[in-house]
Amino acid sequence: MTAATFTLRLARPADASLLATMSREFIEDGLRWTWRAPRIARQIESSDTVVLVALEGRRLAGFAIMSYGDTNAHLNLLAVDPAYRMQGLGRRMVDWLEKTARNAGIFRITLEVRAQNFGGRCFYKALGYREVLLLRGYYQGAEDAVRMRHNLRVDVTSS
Ligand SMILES: CC(C)(COP(=O)(O)OP(=O)(O)OC[C@H]1O[C@@H](n2cnc3c(N)ncnc32)[C@H](O)[C@@H]1OP(=O)(O)O)[C@@H](O)C(=O)NCCC(=O)NCCS
Repeated sequence: MTAATFTLRLARPADASLLATMSREFIEDGLRWTWRAPRIARQIESSDTVVLVALEGRRLAGFAIMSYGDTNAHLNLLAVDPAYRMQGLGRRMVDWLEKTARNAGIFRITLEVRAQNFGGRCFYKALGYREVLLLRGYYQGAEDAVRMRHNLRVDVTSS
C-alpha cells in the first residue's frame, strides 16, 4: 500500500458543513452537537482563528481549528478521518499551527480534551503537551475534560 500524500490549506466557507459533520462524528460523539456549520463558518471568517484542512487529493482527511490571543493560542478542534490515522497527519497539522503561533510570538498552546479520550490524550502527550487540570463536567455537565498545555519556548532551537 502506498502512503497517502496530504496537502494542507486554509479552510474556505464551503468547507464548513463537512467540518461540522466531522466534528459531530469524531469529536462530539455522544455529546450535544455544538460545532455546527454556522459556528465553523464564523471561525473560518475570524481574523483571530485559523481553520486548517488536510486533503488527500480532493478528499478531506482532517482539520484543525486554532484561536490566537496575545500570549496564548487555543486548539479548539482537531480530527483526522479514521482512514488516515496513525500516518502523522495529526502531528503535521499541529506542527503547522504551532509554527504559526511561534511566528506571531505566541509560545503557549492550551486545549481541552475529553477525559475518556485516552487516544487523544496519548496523541497530545506524544507531541509534548502536559496535562495540567481536570475540569469536572466541562462538557455539558456530562463529561470531564483534561486541560493540556504545551510550552513552545522549551522546544525553540537556533538554526
Ligand atoms: C487524535 C488524532 C487527531 C490523532 O491523529 P493521527 O493523525 O492519527 O496522529 P499521528 O499519526 O500524527 O500521531 C502522532 C503521535 O501520536 C500517537 N498517537 C496517535 N493516536 C494515538 C492513539 N489513539 N493512541 C496512542 N497514541 C496515539 C502516535 O503513535 C504518534 O506518536 P509518535 O510520533 O511518537 O510515533 C486522531 O486519532 C483523531 O482524529 N481522533 C478523534 C478526534 C480526537 O480525539 N481529536 C483530539 C481531541 S479534540
